[in-house]
Formats: sequence, structure tokens, C-alpha cells
Amino acid sequence: MITPTAQSQVPVITIDGPTASGKGTVAGRVAKALGWHMLDSGALYRLTALATQQQGVDSDNPQSVADVAENLDVVFSDGTILLAGQDVTDLIRHESVGSLASKIATYGPVRQSLLARQRAFRCLPGLVADGRDMGTIVFPDAPLKIFLVADALSRAKRRCKQLSQKGISANLTSLLEDMLERDKRDRDRALAPLVAAPGAVTIDSSALTIDETVNKVLGLWSGKGDPSGPM
Ligand code: DC
Repeated sequence: MITPTAQSQVPVITIDGPTASGKGTVAGRVAKALGWHMLDSGALYRLTALATQQQGVDSDNPQSVADVAENLDVVFSDGTILLAGQDVTDLIRHESVGSLASKIATYGPVRQSLLARQRAFRCLPGLVADGRDMGTIVFPDAPLKIFLVADALSRAKRRCKQLSQKGISANLTSLLEDMLERDKRDRDRALAPLVAAPGAVTIDSSALTIDETVNKVLGLWSGKGDPSGPM
């Protein structure tokens, strides 16, 4: 008889860190190298923020925003994100959406609404999940937890480059200010604050290339004996 694999047996690597620390890129590359699924949890908060704006919902009302989160009509497919059928892949990366995401992410009912949706990504052969609370709240039993940091100026420069590559205009000084404000809000909030999970390995990527950072994570995983790999 084939028994369904208990979710807790599916390996997870969590990568948490502040905005623009490179965690999304690194998580994507690690997932690809291992052939695993990937969860960009920040995208769910950004999608909730965008849907709140689009539906004209009061973003100061936690329960109304939680209802939006609960009913998100989202499809993730091959790097494209559809919200109610509309391609919002680039739209959710705008700084205004990111700022609103950071605000609504402080609401308990919103975090609760998104919890089951995030855990549902945990499927064989494994999951790489990036965000703020992947190692602390969403997947506290993950066998490898990474806390990826980088100094604020390196992060602002990266974000500036990313945005201009997408054709979105950006100013380094205001990006840096927004980033510091968002960091503070993500760190100081009462619920699921940005903090290294117990047992997490901290990697400072300020002076590392993406390849070097990815290799460090893969090295840490294989050092654990890669329980998902061929026996
Ligand atoms: O990673 P990001 O910049 O796309 O995330 C956008 C916002 O969503 C971020 O400012 C805080 C929030 N967030 C969160 O609270 N918890 C997560 N696991 C991921 C993101």
C-alpha cells in the first residue's frame, strides 16, 4: 500500500532575511540545483497588498485584509504570477506594493490566513522557502535554516539594479531610506518578527557573489547528508 508522505518528512531549507538580501535569487538557484519546489512567501504578502489596493479594501482593517488573503486567486507558473487571471509578476515588485505588504504583514489575521497556503507548498522531493518567518513559524522543523544578511547599502544597490533591469525607475537614496524603514518594521513587529531562527546558520552575502552564496547553502545541505538524495 502506498501511504502518502507525511508533510513533516518532506525536507525543507528555509532562507530568511531582510529585504533585498538576495534570498529570493539564492532560494531559486538552490531549489533548481536540488530539483525542489520553491516558496517565495514575500510574494504572497505582496499579492495580498496588491489585491487589497485593487479591490478598494480598507488596508487599515486587519480582518478585511485577512479576508482578501484567504480568498487570493493566485497561480504560480514557470516564474509568472497570475492574480485573478492578470499577470502581476512585475507589478508586485513595485516599492509601493512592497511597503503596503510590510504594513499588512504586521496583522495577525493576515499572517494566519496565509499560513496554510504556505505550508501547502511542502511537497516531495523538497522545498526551499524564503521569507522572514520561514524558519521560526512556518517550517520550524526544517532541517536546514539559513539567515541571509547583507549591509543596507549593498542591498539598496542590488534592489536598484533589479528594478532598473525590470524597467522600473528607482532612486538609490530613497530606496535606502525605504529599505531601512521596512527593515525596522519587519524586525520590531510583535508577530513573527524578522529574526534568525534557533539553529539557523547566518550568511553575510555583502561581499559574496550569488554563486558563492548558493554554493555555501548547497554545501551546508550536503554536509547534513542530504537525506532526500539517492541512497
Ligand atoms: O521578501 P519581500 O520583500 O518580497 O516581502 C515583502 C514584505 O512581506 C516584507 O516587507 C515583509 C512581508 N513578509 C513577511 O512578513 N513574512 C514573510 N515570510 C515574507 C514577507
